[in-house]
Amino acid sequence: MARANGKVILLGEHAVVYGVPAIAAGIGKGATAIAVPAERPLLVLGAERVVRAGEDDELGRAFTALHAATGVGSYRIDVTLELPPGAGLGASASIGVATARALFEASGIEAGRERVLEAAGAWERVFHGNPSGIDAEAAACEACILYSRADGARPIAVAGEVPLVIGIAGPSASTRVMVEGVAELRQRKPEVVDKAMAGILALVNAAKGCLGVGDLRGLGRLMDLNQMLLSGLFVSTEGIERACAVARAAGALGAKLTGSGGGGAVIALAPGDPEVILSAFRSEGIQCFATTVGASSGGTRR
Ligand code: MEV
Repeated sequence: MARANGKVILLGEHAVVYGVPAIAAGIGKGATAIAVPAERPLLVLGAERVVRAGEDDELGRAFTALHAATGVGSYRIDVTLELPPGAGLGASASIGVATARALFEASGIEAGRERVLEAAGAWERVFHGNPSGIDAEAAACEACILYSRADGARPIAVAGEVPLVIGIAGPSASTRVMVEGVAELRQRKPEVVDKAMAGILALVNAAKGCLGVGDLRGLGRLMDLNQMLLSGLFVSTEGIERACAVARAAGALGAKLTGSGGGGAVIALAPGDPEVILSAFRSEGIQCFATTVGASSGGTRR
């Protein structure tokens, strides 16, 4: 049996696809995978979906790619997911990492982080086309990381914990579609997108400093600015803007979408009692939970 985390991106999504570093962290909710020997490779996702290696749909191709990348024999893997899928919380990377870990563990192979990430990367590429790799890296780690395509994941210093409330602002969108949307905008208006990327780089660098000294107020302001730049890339929605406004009105120091946007999750920086923001979300019908990220992430509660 193996586990992997879900993730939040504190700052830098989309820009990370173009080489800008982003700050991400694993969260306690994630995926659990149990592998047992079977006649044929089989992936069972909750009660809803049975995926056979070789099937010619997205899940079938992704599972085939992951299984081939591990190079192990035939197993049935039962996955339990604790996250809403497609909401920007890294559900698919979490399934990929947990499944790869379970396969290696069941086969008695002591696979290091790199082999696990290689197998999870093969799974992710089928869904996302050109993933930066940040989701799988965060799914495989406990702490806050600075991730870039050039340098991979590096742990970053965090003074204390970063308390977050996560709200599901609306139906999810495809990461592939959202990433392609930014790429199309960049083709049409390179100066607009490049300016946004430069702005996000500056925010990420400043946020690193805030995390290092535990300046949550500063971090919150940077998250709000990151949200403005993401809106300018057309990856925000009315639902996301509304959820961010609800969180700020209830005392959040900052709020933004997390992941690819187009719907899905927002993160709100929630010092003090998270219940205030949780109940503000609930009164608007926004499904939510509280979590903390930091030097060692993972304290999630409903
Ligand atoms: C998705 O969680 C984050 C994006 O930056 C895509 C990626 O990095 O692969 C939108």
